[in-house]
Amino acid sequence: MWGPTLRAQQFTRSTSRWEMTCCRRSTKWAAIVDGEAKGYGSEDPGVAKPLKEHPPFASSRGTWGRASFLQMPAAAMSTPPSAHTPYSYHPRELAAHDAVRHLLAQRYGSARTPEPFGINTTLEHILAHRSVRRYSPRPVSEQTLEFLVAAAQSAANSSNLQLWSVVTVSDPERRRQLASVTGGQSHVERSPLFLVWLADLHRISEIADRRQTSKDGIPFLETFLSAVVDTALAAQNAVLAAESLGLGTVYIGAIRNQPNRVADILSLPPNVVAIFGLCVGWPDPDIPTAIKPRLPQEVVLHRDVYRSLEAHLGSLEDYDRKVTEFQRQTRSSTQKAWTEKSAESIATVAALGGRHILRAELAARGVGLE
Ligand SMILES: Cc1cc2nc3c(=O)[nH]c(=O)nc-3n(C[C@H](O)[C@H](O)[C@H](O)COP(=O)(O)O)c2cc1C
Repeated sequence: MWGPTLRAQQFTRSTSRWEMTCCRRSTKWAAIVDGEAKGYGSEDPGVAKPLKEHPPFASSRGTWGRASFLQMPAAAMSTPPSAHTPYSYHPRELAAHDAVRHLLAQRYGSARTPEPFGINTTLEHILAHRSVRRYSPRPVSEQTLEFLVAAAQSAANSSNLQLWSVVTVSDPERRRQLASVTGGQSHVERSPLFLVWLADLHRISEIADRRQTSKDGIPFLETFLSAVVDTALAAQNAVLAAESLGLGTVYIGAIRNQPNRVADILSLPPNVVAIFGLCVGWPDPDIPTAIKPRLPQEVVLHRDVYRSLEAHLGSLEDYDRKVTEFQRQTRSSTQKAWTEKSAESIATVAALGGRHILRAELAARGVGLE
């Protein structure tokens, strides 16, 4: 799975050299000189290595890099790029265009995809998302953590009230307890970084107390919903930032299995609820991950008015087949059609995995849902 993320990173005009990196997940890079792939290696994600002497490009994996580049205009292949070469596309854009096309094809499990538009690396990172549950032992630095939180804080939030907080959990015993809350998800214990994202109505409540003003607006569903929405937007910004650095992440909604136990483990004050956890780490290069296909756009994109599913039953059947094939290829523990799994998830109260008592749990945390 090299090709889709391969992209031109840097052109050093003085040496007519292209360096290409394919760093996001595979921690691999390829070096291409004057249109010829010359070498590849394994390096830190996100780092374009200076090109020195490389053996001839021998790996079969390298064909991806070559294929990406072969789609450049012939002029770019035969002539070393220079400031005066009139390309219809900058080769960097062309490689990115190709990469985005691949990513879209995987996202929809089909060659029929939306036309790539306004290509840039942000879009590449968004489209390349996949959850990562296995990590290399390499730690995630404090600097990275602070950067991720800066990204999270940069998200839009309701009325700038900033009704969320995040706890980074490094104490092994707390990690073990949190993993047990999640039904024994081992990545919760093992990920280099584990963040718990909190809807936080405590801070605003304290502010009101200090100002000796009333806080009648706290115990309403709307207030809690604002906090949850803000928490999710912030966390997703952190996820995107992490992925852009080559890190892998997975959300852990199972943290909501026992909100009050989680509150005890993390010493949460009243009016603070853990919404989900987030494992973060450098992906284990030996465990491949894949882009999971999503519903065809016509099922989720409505125009002017909501259209019933009736019109899309064929698309759904098609999607079921794609997901089943994806599960087969990735040797997923779940081998079920998507519609079947979806229906099962709401068929019984038991399918909520114990979270049907969430309202009572929240009430115990002082959170009102009037
Ligand atoms: C709010 C939320 C909670 C999730 N909880 C879990 C979880 O507890 N354990 C887990 O392994 N994955 C969890 N996931 C990951 C989803 O299963 C995953 O995002 C989904 O299957 C789509 O796959 P992808 O992220 O690889 O595209 C969660 C995702 C979200 C957004």
